[in-house]
Amino acid sequence: MEKAFVIAVDGPGGAGKGELTKRLAKEFGFALLDSGAIYRVLAYAARQAGLAMFDEDSLVQEANVLSLSFKVEDDGVHVLLGKEDVTKAIRTEENGINASKVAAHPLVRTALLERQRAFRQEPGLVADGRDMGTVVFPDAQVKIFLDASPEVRATRRQKQLEAAGKEADYEQILKEITERDERDRNRPVAPLKPAEDALLLDSTNMSIEEVFATACQYIRSKM
Ligand code: DC
Repeated sequence: MEKAFVIAVDGPGGAGKGELTKRLAKEFGFALLDSGAIYRVLAYAARQAGLAMFDEDSLVQEANVLSLSFKVEDDGVHVLLGKEDVTKAIRTEENGINASKVAAHPLVRTALLERQRAFRQEPGLVADGRDMGTVVFPDAQVKIFLDASPEVRATRRQKQLEAAGKEADYEQILKEITERDERDRNRPVAPLKPAEDALLLDSTNMSIEEVFATACQYIRSKM
């Protein structure tokens, strides 16, 4: 039997995956998996439990018992850790860096694999991450790798932070983005890289509307 349709969207942070996948899920009536949120919740829970981000064994244990759920509300998807709403708390720069460290451990990734695959459902799933097309859903019917220059990604992040009324130093953001990319691209397991059969989309000089239109046209050609 043909498995439920999966649109895998991978790429570095700030390339616009979040906005694109949200729009695609709405357009096609598919479920949405924000896999980065899973790593972020694990990093947050580990921090609260006083674990070190290099302690792979303890992180695996934490991953195995992680009580994580997503809840759709009027203002978007909320992320829950047990009963605690951690939607905002997991989005800090510090927690993002910790998530990237946690995600570099091979056994942690294995522990979270089935949890992610369980999101595959009819009529389809849009999966947002770094290894959706390469590892988690290697048989995804559509794979898109969305990239953008580090400078453009830093500028977008700066605007996002400013819009949220937060302090945003461009040089600092660029440095953090570059460091996180290095770690995500160079880890031995499930490194950030396009699947061989992925459509490469560079959004550096594209608006979200252009990215969305290009993605929709490509997806329809595969349906
Ligand atoms: O997409 P994000 O910024 O929320 O992801 C946070 C971190 O989680 C990112 O630096 C790398 C890691 N991650 C991963 O390793 N694999 C995924 N599929 C998603 C995220």
